[in-house]
Amino acid sequence: MPTRLRRRLESAALAVADAVIAEPPRVAERSRVAERPRVAEPPRVSTDGHVAAVSADGVTRRYGDGETAVDALRGVSLSVARGELVAVMGPSGSGKSTLLHILAGLDKPTSGEAYIGGRALSGLDDQGLTLLRRRKVGFVFQFFNLLPMLSAEQNVVLPLRLAGEEPDPGWVDEVIASVGLADRRHHRPAELSGGQQQRVALARALITRPSILFADEPTGNLDSKAGHEILELLRSCVASYGQTILTVTHEPRVSTVADRILILADGLIVRELGHVSSSEVRSAIEALEG
Ligand SMILES: Nc1ncnc2c1ncn2[C@@H]1O[C@H](COP(=O)(O)OP(=O)(O)OP(=O)(O)O)[C@@H](O)[C@H]1O
Ligand SMILES: [Mg+2]
Repeated sequence: MPTRLRRRLESAALAVADAVIAEPPRVAERSRVAERPRVAEPPRVSTDGHVAAVSADGVTRRYGDGETAVDALRGVSLSVARGELVAVMGPSGSGKSTLLHILAGLDKPTSGEAYIGGRALSGLDDQGLTLLRRRKVGFVFQFFNLLPMLSAEQNVVLPLRLAGEEPDPGWVDEVIASVGLADRRHHRPAELSGGQQQRVALARALITRPSILFADEPTGNLDSKAGHEILELLRSCVASYGQTILTVTHEPRVSTVADRILILADGLIVRELGHVSSSEVRSAIEALEG
């Protein structure tokens, strides 16, 4: 194949890959979000005086307008400190994915502000947001979003290739080993179990050493054992790399690994749980679901 054609095909494939990794949601919706006035950029400081890894200030998100409008978020404020593992739980439709997408810069709030490392996301244009997502944000999805034609290792290093960076072989080895895939690195996703595919997705999210790792129901498509192993791996990312993690989950056993659990209902944080047992988490969720 002529080199020019190959390069063009490669760059087209990388553009598709960028979209798959970032999964910008609801593009049609985004264009309907009203332009908001720029806000000043106060440093987002947590109670211990450090800049929070990620925070939200009065975030609302309305889908559509008029009588059919849906208020997915109705004023959410939160702050996640560096090295903290925070879980977001709540009934289906309570706004968990919407919140994660806004904090990750994949969607925009209708009002309020989201910050990563103290930087207000509304102050960034599309290119600035893309760069921030590539450099500072890792995202793990329920359905893995791996590229089927690439090996596990090629999937893992994809974010670096998209950023035009050369992978450091030692770091690639370490990340792949840390998720327990050293002997599966040349397999393609179809040759891996669900749990192994999610490990690849986790390694891919870690490879850029993100300031914050978001995971939206990372165990939602796995059996109980594989799901629990992914939760344990999230915890080990905190222990090994000081990784900050915000994960959405329906799995009460997240209480065994999370520092805090925020419970969302109808677009608002209605409860915060510290170190509690899985059955206490289950009762708190059941109370909401009635
Ligand atoms: N693109 C959209 N257009 C209109 N409404 C939407 C859109 N996306 C989400 N919603 C609505 O916003 C609310 C919150 O949705 P969201 O996906 O954030 O919930 P969730 O808590 O992640 O639910 P689940 O546990 O089922 O994943 C729901 O009422 C949903 O129907
Ligand atoms: Mg969701």
